[in-house]
Amino acid sequence: MNAWPTLSAPEITTARLRLRTAHDADIDGLIELQTDPRVRAHLGGARPRDAVVRYFAVNGVSAIAGKAGTYIVADRESDACVGTLVLDRRSADLPGHVTEEGGELELTYLLRRSGWGAGLAFEAATGLLRAAADELPDQPVLVVTQTANERSRRLATRLGFQPVGTFEAHGAEQTLAVADLHAFASCCDREGSPGWWLGRLGGR
Ligand SMILES: CC(C)(COP(=O)(O)OP(=O)(O)OC[C@H]1O[C@@H](n2cnc3c(N)ncnc32)[C@H](O)[C@@H]1OP(=O)(O)O)[C@@H](O)C(=O)NCCC(=O)NCCS
Repeated sequence: MNAWPTLSAPEITTARLRLRTAHDADIDGLIELQTDPRVRAHLGGARPRDAVVRYFAVNGVSAIAGKAGTYIVADRESDACVGTLVLDRRSADLPGHVTEEGGELELTYLLRRSGWGAGLAFEAATGLLRAAADELPDQPVLVVTQTANERSRRLATRLGFQPVGTFEAHGAEQTLAVADLHAFASCCDREGSPGWWLGRLGGR
């Protein structure tokens, strides 16, 4: 894990969502994210349910609670867990970088299957990247996704990430895409940009 800073905001609110730290009540949703074959289709496959249940029984939500840059994506009204969103640092040991030293910001997103197809991942990621742009100096942000993961690539493109290369990892081709963090700043809402769309959707 890289010690460089990531986003520190404890909570981020958008029109329909609240990005927040994890609670014990999120465990069912977190188990589903690890065990649903459709969610894990491009992430190495579903994990065995028994092992995941045991893991959370022993550790609770501590593995993801309170970690900087790690958020539960929760429905703003019901507070139910819709998914997770992480803005972390991509370790220099891994392939897929745009700087020599590595450790760039990297965005990862995971929604429960019931939340797909409603623009929720876009809304959550835009809110998170905007908060990060307002807090951190400009720098590249990466999305690394299996090339076969069309939904994930579509989302990255919609957010404004540009594909810059591919590489092999985990037995599959991965696409590396990059964006400038400050393209998401609240000051830079150009017509058609993620912030502009979020504004039109009532996200501020
Ligand atoms: C990747 C993933 C988060 C994308 O979720 P998603 O719901 O497709 O993404 P978005 O939030 O951008 O939603 C876009 C869809 O919502 C629709 N939509 C409906 N209402 C919308 C609104 N108000 N605003 C925007 N889009 C809206 C869009 O038309 C689009 O539909 P389409 O993909 O059928 O054309 C989700 O598929 C997932 O969790 N996959 C498994 C985990 C994974 O592989 N993660 C990648 C690791 S980096």
